[in-house]
Amino acid sequence: MSYNLLKGKKGIIFGALNDQSIAWKVAEKAHEEGAQFTLSNTPVALRLGSLDELAKKTGSEIIHADATNVADIEKVFERSMEIFGGKIDFVLHSIGMSPNVRKGIPYDDIDYPNFLKTLDISALSFHKMLQVARKMDAINEWGSVVALSYVAAQRTLFGYNDMADAKSLLESIARSFGYIYGRDKKIRINTISQSPTRTTAGSGVSGIDTLIDFTERMSPLGNATAEDCADYCITMFSDLTRKVTMQNLFHDGGFSSMGMSYKAITQYNKSFDECE
Ligand SMILES: NC(=O)c1ccc[n+]([C@@H]2O[C@H](COP(=O)([O-])OP(=O)(O)OC[C@H]3O[C@@H](n4cnc5c(N)ncnc54)[C@H](O)[C@@H]3O)[C@@H](O)[C@H]2O)c1
Repeated sequence: MSYNLLKGKKGIIFGALNDQSIAWKVAEKAHEEGAQFTLSNTPVALRLGSLDELAKKTGSEIIHADATNVADIEKVFERSMEIFGGKIDFVLHSIGMSPNVRKGIPYDDIDYPNFLKTLDISALSFHKMLQVARKMDAINEWGSVVALSYVAAQRTLFGYNDMADAKSLLESIARSFGYIYGRDKKIRINTISQSPTRTTAGSGVSGIDTLIDFTERMSPLGNATAEDCADYCITMFSDLTRKVTMQNLFHDGGFSSMGMSYKAITQYNKSFDECE
């Protein structure tokens, strides 16, 4: 059902790879809610994924960019403003990658050039987008910028590796830039901390199926799906959330406030029975 929540709004969506991607679901919902937007991803992602299909479906133009490259990001904002004939209203940063996770290199024997790459791709890219947008004065007053995060920024989860540090930095950038951009231009910046989700990036997380089962049992409302996350992003881009900024918003069915649930303890007890 559409509520026309984004009627007349223009945006940029970074990070849709295939139809599992959270950014893909956001693009579909934003289109349903009346927004126009451009789509951006790396040239490699465009070859490996199916972004063309999404662009066709939503009438959007694709602008190639490596989000670690400031010149590329400038090109995305410039071209988007050219297409829309003016400033934009929302930006989604849905980007994450760790070469250490991908190569199975453990946190206590980490490769530092890889670590820097993780931070650059998954966190600094957010700062780069915000700095480019502000210098170009590319976002309308009361515009909204959202990046996707994960609870590993606050709590240690086995195998999440240097992505945990990247998510902490991402959330900190939302607060630091949120102050400046809010004060000067009334632009709000938030992160949404999403449940584990089966996507290409999600599948790279060690033991993702077990993790998804665990958080499902621990969360009173169950895990949030990629579609649920897209709904939340749409409300954050809409005018209904104009005074929400500098927040890390948990979108996880209640997981982050739980210590132990009945469903999880029942499952855990079973494993003791099996041991005996
Ligand atoms: N899947 C999960 O369990 C989960 C949970 C919480 C948060 N998140 C976050 O959601 C976001 C989207 O991930 P997803 O799960 O939809 O997976 P995904 O694999 O579909 O999306 C990740 C995207 O990052 C892009 N990317 C990687 N390097 C890039 C670069 N240098 N420049 C530009 N883009 C680059 C990829 O091409 C891809 O489109 C990420 O920030 C991820 O950490 C995911």
